[in-house]
Amino acid sequence: MDRILEKITEEIEKGFTKAGYDAKYAKVTLSNRPDLCEYQCNGAMAAAKAYKKAPLMIANDVIAALEGNDVLESVEAVNPGFINMKITKAFVSDYLNAMQADEFLGVEQAEAPKTIMLDYGGPNVAKPLHVGHLRSAVIGESIKRMGRAVGHKMIGDVHLGDWGLQMGLIITELKERKPELVYFQEDYTGEYPAEAPFTIGELEEIYPVASGKSKEDEAYKAKAMEATHQLQQGNPGYMALWNHIMTVSVNDLKRNYARLDVSFDLWKKESDAQPYIPEMVDYLKKNGYAHEDQGALVVDVKEETDTKEIPPCMILKSDGASLYNTTDLATIVERMKLFHPDEIIYVVDKRQDLYFTQVFRCARKARLVDEDTTLTFLGFGTMNGKDGKPFKTREGGVMRLENLLNEINEEMYKKIVDNRSVKEEDAHKTSEIVGLSAIKYGDLSNQASKDYVFDVDRFTSFEGDTGPYILYTTVRIKSILNRFKEEGGDIEVGTILGAVSDSEKALMLSLSQYGAVINNAFDEKAPHKICAYIYELANAFNRFYHETKILSEENKEQQSSWIRMLVLTRDVLEHSVQMLGFSAPEKM
Ligand code: ARG
Repeated sequence: MDRILEKITEEIEKGFTKAGYDAKYAKVTLSNRPDLCEYQCNGAMAAAKAYKKAPLMIANDVIAALEGNDVLESVEAVNPGFINMKITKAFVSDYLNAMQADEFLGVEQAEAPKTIMLDYGGPNVAKPLHVGHLRSAVIGESIKRMGRAVGHKMIGDVHLGDWGLQMGLIITELKERKPELVYFQEDYTGEYPAEAPFTIGELEEIYPVASGKSKEDEAYKAKAMEATHQLQQGNPGYMALWNHIMTVSVNDLKRNYARLDVSFDLWKKESDAQPYIPEMVDYLKKNGYAHEDQGALVVDVKEETDTKEIPPCMILKSDGASLYNTTDLATIVERMKLFHPDEIIYVVDKRQDLYFTQVFRCARKARLVDEDTTLTFLGFGTMNGKDGKPFKTREGGVMRLENLLNEINEEMYKKIVDNRSVKEEDAHKTSEIVGLSAIKYGDLSNQASKDYVFDVDRFTSFEGDTGPYILYTTVRIKSILNRFKEEGGDIEVGTILGAVSDSEKALMLSLSQYGAVINNAFDEKAPHKICAYIYELANAFNRFYHETKILSEENKEQQSSWIRMLVLTRDVLEHSVQMLGFSAPEKM
């Protein structure tokens, strides 16, 4: 279905044409000054140059030509040549009825759906998920859902970090602690045990210890590097350990992501890209893309227009070892081969910006990626504590995601029990649902590239620009609808009529923008635009609700119009939060 802005633009185009001006100047936008008008057209200013006429004269000509149309309730020309408009109540209500009948509620579906791969999450095996991984998961999940809502094929890949030195570190530390394990016996030929020689708790304790030691002890570090090398060469005992580490770790990661309602289509890992490396390196050399520089193999990626130095992309170190870059390039090769995506979006900490510039340039230059495949880096800012420094525990350590979730849920539980509208046995489940909205909305309502302050008190508040406020509003609508049903009403019948109050018209205008907001938010990969929209919608709803007695309305036609509008508001809110990655409970 056409969006409301397009419909209004069509109407204004008629005015421009009739008055003798080109219809291309008729573009209508939402008003910058909602106090003065609902929509505006600034085309008279541009037309003034073409027609060598004062913009105000043109605006007035167009307005005269619009006389008698049934879309505009009022229209006026304002200096220097703005055309300010309000649309008729019937036009808005017609639009809302059409929107309600549309299965996508007016969200335009992609004509040629794209295959878009999303590289997000990016946790590292055997290290606990920490808050740094939270943003990638939350933002990536939302973009994936937004893409699906506009009709694209989205493939989410967790791209596990399983190939680096961390594996060698863990193996080395295990060997120090339990040298008797069969994995370390060189002449061992039997089967390796099916059970892992550690729990996830032990694994998570081992990694930081090993990492700490390697920073202080050169010999230890050398051992860890050697173990990494051996693993990569296929040492059977180390491979068996690696498999255990993977199983134990991935189970734990899946449990954590499930709590966040984040799910991946692919659980690919850095090691999956390794088989592509030898051929890729050969190709880069043969075709003259890569050259040797002080023993290392590099691809130059600087460009003439660069204003800052972009160092070459290193493919192999002087000892022949591959790097993070090599893996990312090989992953691109793999993705092209297996999925042939139209776009790959990386949702990664913005501090990796330069790194991705190098990788993308190298992939393009060496044609590892098709010319019409877009590579997008979506860098996000840091999640800070109230002190403005990267978020830490009260003791100053790295906050584990798990503990953060628990803390938020406890906070939410207190509030929900205080409210007394939820039964004790449901309170924990409800706290989890609402707690998740607090975390996700708190994150997503900021522009992704900016740093933000994670403020538990603010995020869990039922008032203000928060997830719980949006859910509270949704629950409020659901409970009105339930009461209406209990009194014998049918929420599926009725037509939305023209607004009878200013607050109702404001709510209707807000609802009518839904489709455009979603399409635009996806185009700009900007979940914060959905947050800003639903916050405004929730405010418009609450204003309307405070002024309107719905359940006691005697005029049944009027009442069912409002009920239908409530249903539409509920659906818009629920679809929106679903795209943000959370959902509303029945009560809270
Ligand atoms: N594992 C990496 C980290 O923790 C993030 C991976 C991001 N994705 C990628 N394709 N490099 O920093």
